[in-house]
Amino acid sequence: MSKYTEVKRITTNTLQAMKRDGVKISMLTAYDFSMAKIIDQAGIDIILVGDSASNVMHGHESTLPITLDQMISHAAAVRKAVERCFVVVDLPFGSYQGNSRAALDSAIRIMKEAGAHGVKIEGGSEILESAKRILSAGIPVMGHLGLTPQSIFKFGTYTVRAKEEAEAAKLIEDAHLLQETGCFGIVLEKIPAALGTRVAQELDIPIIGIGAGNGVDGQVLVSHDMFGITQDFSPRFLRRYLDLSSEMKGAVAQYIKDVKSGDFPNEKEQY
Ligand code: KIV
Repeated sequence: MSKYTEVKRITTNTLQAMKRDGVKISMLTAYDFSMAKIIDQAGIDIILVGDSASNVMHGHESTLPITLDQMISHAAAVRKAVERCFVVVDLPFGSYQGNSRAALDSAIRIMKEAGAHGVKIEGGSEILESAKRILSAGIPVMGHLGLTPQSIFKFGTYTVRAKEEAEAAKLIEDAHLLQETGCFGIVLEKIPAALGTRVAQELDIPIIGIGAGNGVDGQVLVSHDMFGITQDFSPRFLRRYLDLSSEMKGAVAQYIKDVKSGDFPNEKEQY
């Protein structure tokens, strides 16, 4: 047990101190009140209201269709449930790229209407002006490099990023730029472990990996994947901690049986 277990509220300062002390940071996604309450009470350090909600909550094939209004709705529900962890919310596709004024407006809406603690944006040098503008309003910003799902149609595939030297060099440069701009942390997605380790060693801010190996400062997973609610997504980096999909189907099958047979409700389950 570390001294951080006792911390009543996780802030960007806590996360920075955890990096300094070599204490790994835990992060999971949540998109609704009930799930966020369980994850926060279990002691997670960061909840990400990820735009992966586009896939796991709304059934879209990519993260691109989810809207700012939908992200605010998810984030507001999560924020109501949370007492301890830091809540960071993805700015969705189209709400911050190419126009830093729009980026600031989007981030302000997320902070005001959802009560978020910070926002996450994807990209490096391309979105630096947006990051700067949001930071100028005192809003904590987290970067996201490597596989950036909002650019999936540019990449064309979900394969490992930055395996080639030029792309790895750009990622390292972007990570430094994000740190210099004032970002409080960076997510690195699906890149070689050695590159993840290098970025975490070179930078002073926390580096959170998803498929970026064990040499980074913390890990993030999509909660629906690690709980085994989603079944059709099995990248190498995913560790499933539960098989909730099977458990839930079993419970539903039993409920149907009990209703059909007249076993439910019994004497004690009625008024
Ligand atoms: O939206 C999301 O869930 C994310 C994680 C994959 C880091 O950005």
